[in-house]
Amino acid sequence: MSYHIVATDDEAAIRKVLSIMLSRAGYEVSTCSQGSELLTLLSQRPVDLILLDIKMPKISGLDLLVQIKREWPQIPVIMVTAFGDLDTGIKAMRLGAADYLTKPVGQQQLLKTVDEVLHAPLPPSSAHAEQRLSMALSELDDVRAGTLEAFSETLAQKDSYTKEHSLRVRDLAVAIGRALHLKEERLNILAGGALLHDIGKIGISEEILNKPTTLTTAEYEVVKTHPEIGVRIASHLSLLEPFLPIITSHHERLDGTGYPHGLTCTEIPLEVRIISLADAFEAMTASRPYRDALPVELAIEELKANSGTQFDPDLVNLFIEEELFRL
Ligand SMILES: [Fe+2]
Repeated sequence: MSYHIVATDDEAAIRKVLSIMLSRAGYEVSTCSQGSELLTLLSQRPVDLILLDIKMPKISGLDLLVQIKREWPQIPVIMVTAFGDLDTGIKAMRLGAADYLTKPVGQQQLLKTVDEVLHAPLPPSSAHAEQRLSMALSELDDVRAGTLEAFSETLAQKDSYTKEHSLRVRDLAVAIGRALHLKEERLNILAGGALLHDIGKIGISEEILNKPTTLTTAEYEVVKTHPEIGVRIASHLSLLEPFLPIITSHHERLDGTGYPHGLTCTEIPLEVRIISLADAFEAMTASRPYRDALPVELAIEELKANSGTQFDPDLVNLFIEEELFRL
């Protein structure tokens, strides 16, 4: 028996690749570039299985999935997700998808999954599918942790001070996050963002970074470009996307006099405000090439003096009341 499979993706190249791989394996294949085309086809011809891209123009893949499960509940749907978009994959499984594949879709994995779904005596249990998704998420976490470490080491080669600083900022920021009872996911963003926040310093000359005396105005202007350089570096990797606000905005101030965009209080996300506080406190209490460390008591006075202008006053209070500076 020849099965009729419909592959739906807005990219012609992906449709073609899927079509070739499935045709060679003996399946009859139709392709659709958008949801309306798929719905028309479903109303005209019997279909045994649908490969459905989550990111579709006009009607999203998830909306289509809901509609298909309502009108053609017997047709199994395999969702195709972008790498790093596994949360949406989980959502799709809960909405009734039989399985999922991540892009780029390899031939072996495609044929194995299609075969399993077509020949499954019962729809695969959602527990099994969720287990696979959670394994994939955990692999993604490993990749993310490795990438953070690699970036952090790269920066350390150039400026050993920055690595120590970033590790300390991470510990302080996570402690503030825990005191605020933030969820694990947001704590992870704080931890990763703290390690990456100064990654743009890779683009600043070592002469300026390690200068033993105070920077000139011109040199300071160069240093001020590091958030934007950092964003240019990190935006190449989609798995670093959650950290971009921290990289971009960790030198913004509540009163709007920070850089690079002069954002004001409500425009600065909580994670960024936490990192800014931890970053400044760590910088004050660590010795720099051009000055000694400030005693903790004086650094706390600085935080108080700049509470409401540079720093979030609620966070300053929490930091002092919970004695998080003792870390
Ligand atoms: Fe910075």
